[in-house]
Amino acid sequence: MRIIKTKDYQEMSKAAAAILVAQVILKPDSVLGLATGSTPIGTYNQMVEKYEKGEVDFSGISTVNLDEYKGLDKENEQSYYYFMNQHLFDRINVDKDRTHLPNGMALDRQKECEDFERIIQDLGGVDIQVLGIGHNGHIGFNEPASAFEKGTHCVALAKETIEANKRFFDSADDVPKEAYTMGIGTIMKGRKILLIVTGEEKADILAKALWGEITPKVPASILQLHPDVIVVADEAALSKMPK
Ligand code: F6R
Repeated sequence: MRIIKTKDYQEMSKAAAAILVAQVILKPDSVLGLATGSTPIGTYNQMVEKYEKGEVDFSGISTVNLDEYKGLDKENEQSYYYFMNQHLFDRINVDKDRTHLPNGMALDRQKECEDFERIIQDLGGVDIQVLGIGHNGHIGFNEPASAFEKGTHCVALAKETIEANKRFFDSADDVPKEAYTMGIGTIMKGRKILLIVTGEEKADILAKALWGEITPKVPASILQLHPDVIVVADEAALSKMPK
């Protein structure tokens, strides 16, 4: 595992974007695994900036996203589909037909999960998977559990996750209670993982995930077993790193 410690959020975003852009320069038809939430917004802004300066061409890439709320359609401003368009896809020259998120409106959840796994497989797998970490150690929407879930599945969101995500909605009641997410197995199949973390409030969970026991109670702890993980985190997030 490589750890890149940055001064602050802005530097974290620059470093993460540089890694993703380098990936695309080296392999123009890369499959990028992407995340939503507050953490990657700065990274996406930096990618847009590099695109606008002509430093990178995204026309050959494909993307797959970690997750999507169940029950929200693409036009819903809180959907992850909308988020990705707003923060990245509408601002770079990616081919929208090659951007993939689980369909929150799918009628058959089992089929939707299988279809999403097939999309990833048909693309040849994810070259680099961006991850954030939840306060409870979740990655994607793989919440603390008694076992690691393998493939894409539909989950009931943990109370803490609904609490944490209500900031994007009018109230906690409006946060969908279920979501589709890549499984831990799906995430671990990514050839490279880029975990980005910011802020002191993530320091405890990050230390547990990276240096604690590997347990499904801290889903991100499984990353200790992945052969190619880059953690880009700011000083505050790394403040509980063992000496
Ligand atoms: C989002 C996702 C989540 C977030 C996590 C952290 O696609 O998969 O696991 O990465 O909840 O969210 P923020 O960055 O908002 O703290």
